[in-house]
Amino acid sequence: MNLSGLNEKKMKNKIIITITFLSLLAKADEGMWMPQLIAALNINDMKKNGFKLTAEQIYSINKASMKDAVAIFGGGCSSEVISFNGLILTNHHCGYASIASLSSVDKDYLKDGYWAMNQKEELFCPGLSVTFIKRIDDVTSDILKDLKPGFSDIQKDSAIQSNIKIRETKAKEGNSYQTFIRPFFYGNEYYLFTVETFKDIRLVGAPPESIGKFGGETDNWVWPRHNADFSMFRIYANKENKPTEHNNENVPYKPAYSFPISTKGVEKGDFTMVYGFPGRTQEYLTSYAVELLMNDQDPVRVNLREKRLAIMSEDMKKNDTIRLMYANRYAGVANYYKKWSGEMQGLKKSNAVEKKQEAEQNFLKLISSDPVKKEKYTNLFAQFKKLYQDYKPLSREYDYYTECLMGVDAFRMIAPAQSLFAELKKKQNGKENKFDIRLKDALPAVPFKNFNKETDKKLCVAMLEVYNKEVDKALRPFYLDSLITAYKGNMQALTDFLYANSSYVDNDKAKKMYADLEKNSAVYEHDPLYLLTISIVNYYQKAVIPQISYFELQINDLEKEYMKALRDNVKDKKFYPDANGTMRVSFGKVADYAPRDGMEYLHYTTIDGLVEKNRSGIRDYYVKPRLLELYEKKDFGPYADKEGKLHIAFTGSNHTTGGNSGSPVLNAKGELIGTNFDRNWEGTMSDIMYNGSFCRNIILDVRFTLWVIDKYAGAGYLLKEMKLVQ
Ligand code: ARG
Ligand code: GLU
Repeated sequence: MNLSGLNEKKMKNKIIITITFLSLLAKADEGMWMPQLIAALNINDMKKNGFKLTAEQIYSINKASMKDAVAIFGGGCSSEVISFNGLILTNHHCGYASIASLSSVDKDYLKDGYWAMNQKEELFCPGLSVTFIKRIDDVTSDILKDLKPGFSDIQKDSAIQSNIKIRETKAKEGNSYQTFIRPFFYGNEYYLFTVETFKDIRLVGAPPESIGKFGGETDNWVWPRHNADFSMFRIYANKENKPTEHNNENVPYKPAYSFPISTKGVEKGDFTMVYGFPGRTQEYLTSYAVELLMNDQDPVRVNLREKRLAIMSEDMKKNDTIRLMYANRYAGVANYYKKWSGEMQGLKKSNAVEKKQEAEQNFLKLISSDPVKKEKYTNLFAQFKKLYQDYKPLSREYDYYTECLMGVDAFRMIAPAQSLFAELKKKQNGKENKFDIRLKDALPAVPFKNFNKETDKKLCVAMLEVYNKEVDKALRPFYLDSLITAYKGNMQALTDFLYANSSYVDNDKAKKMYADLEKNSAVYEHDPLYLLTISIVNYYQKAVIPQISYFELQINDLEKEYMKALRDNVKDKKFYPDANGTMRVSFGKVADYAPRDGMEYLHYTTIDGLVEKNRSGIRDYYVKPRLLELYEKKDFGPYADKEGKLHIAFTGSNHTTGGNSGSPVLNAKGELIGTNFDRNWEGTMSDIMYNGSFCRNIILDVRFTLWVIDKYAGAGYLLKEMKLVQ
């Protein structure tokens, strides 16, 4: 064989390796793309898949574009503008906290829903904000410019953080916007976001919980789905169309862009695009990290949450007051309990660790012709391995802190009292005078709103029991361990003692304590449950969390290098950065899936399925009689399909995650076809490893949204300000 023949063989090998490598990494519809890079990276693929518009119509800083109608909603959801009068659409579960806090026993908007029948009836939501992105700029060189070879992890981090501050401040000069910078690709790139935040947001309408959250925890993360997970708000601005505090003079915001709404419906295979703010994904983890997550972190968290849920649920079933107290908390704990258990099983079923190992081997083969690279990256994987080995016990300690000990409400409630006593000391030394204000903020008002002593005692016994079994003596806060020893491991007796002798968990005693906290602070500082709480919090905050942060810094540094190596060497793959709460576009199609051997799901559901579930009598499937009456009359108006079926939800192959809730889902012409609200249980592993054959996002069909507004709520007047297209 001559030299060129050898080269040819090498080339062929390289091609084969690249292909297997790519098939592991690049799957159809995978990716959460940055909108400003679509013109360069994605538009051709999107067009091939049916998209009819230009990249500039998705994102432009000079002209009105879709990006002007996509907004961050509250703390961590997405939303879309659907009228030139500032009307926005998001999920019911995204508006939940606001709807709940506007509610009272006799005006229960969660239970009954709420519909403003004119703009005067729209209800201001204190604390709620909506944020638009004005522009996105690459500032990588500004941020990384001071890094010198040989810098330690900590030196690098501090140089970066200080450049971020400087650059953010500079970007704010001379305008009324806010700015923030986020790392991408583990800090290989940095982008600056210039944003505008509105604070006068008013509730326009929400269906009752029995429709918005139909299916409750039973259906959460599960397909087929039948809830209308939407609520509507309006943004108010001052006369100059600028953000301002809530004020009766404010007027509806005039957005640069508003989505037209398609009433045509969707077919399997139709192009879909999700535009929103996905929170966090980790697609480029190594096999070592996935192994830790799948075999240790997820199982520990799931197991602890399962125990807590069982206790809460038992008490909630017995007593309606307790049920209301714990409803929101339960939903929060249950949401990620279910997500993690789906994720863990999905990863196992897909042989995720082996797949990652294979990809790592293939990467090494790909660069194996270069001995320097080969040594460098073999070494890199060895460092990953070592780092995760050392990190594993710490990560476990951390999970037992957050998911076990902090799963006891008493500890979470009492923890802030520590800073309260610190303030009080300052005051007593004549330094500060703000004590009364701090008192209100630091400790919960009595009677406790979301706390039942007996339920929490059960949580405490159960959590201490697992803790005692699972956490090594040497790794415990000293005071907790001495108490456990003193009570010979009898957690019931220990808990009885703690709760009986504490002023922090008893309505009457707490009331008395609040009245004379200042005078008798020494007594309350020696409360046994208080002492235990601070010994726990201080131990973990001082001994464990700083170490975790240091590991995370090191892991991030290796990831940064690995990420760079992948992008430099795997030439024909397009890389997208992990989700980090910033604006992204994912594109895919309306798609069904087969969850298991012998099973196939349709890509859509209809109101027939809702009624069918309702007839089962299961509590989560309760609906108000009005919905059933409309169903019996088949009063579906123009919202039904050609066969007269009223669709509720559909599934897509878009790559989405938490934070994408409320995102607009658009068709090939950029018209709104639905609102994203969940993923399928089998596909929750997509945060770690997306798989196009079964990872699905769940979307509320906008026709059902319109039907609920028009027919169920009788608020059809709102449709007049929307642009409906056939
Ligand atoms: N699983 C969805 C998400 O991650 C919806 C959660 C709210 N709904 C619920 N039933 N808990 O946010
Ligand atoms: N329900 C999620 C959210 O609130 C979206 C579901 C997901 O994680 O994909 O963002």
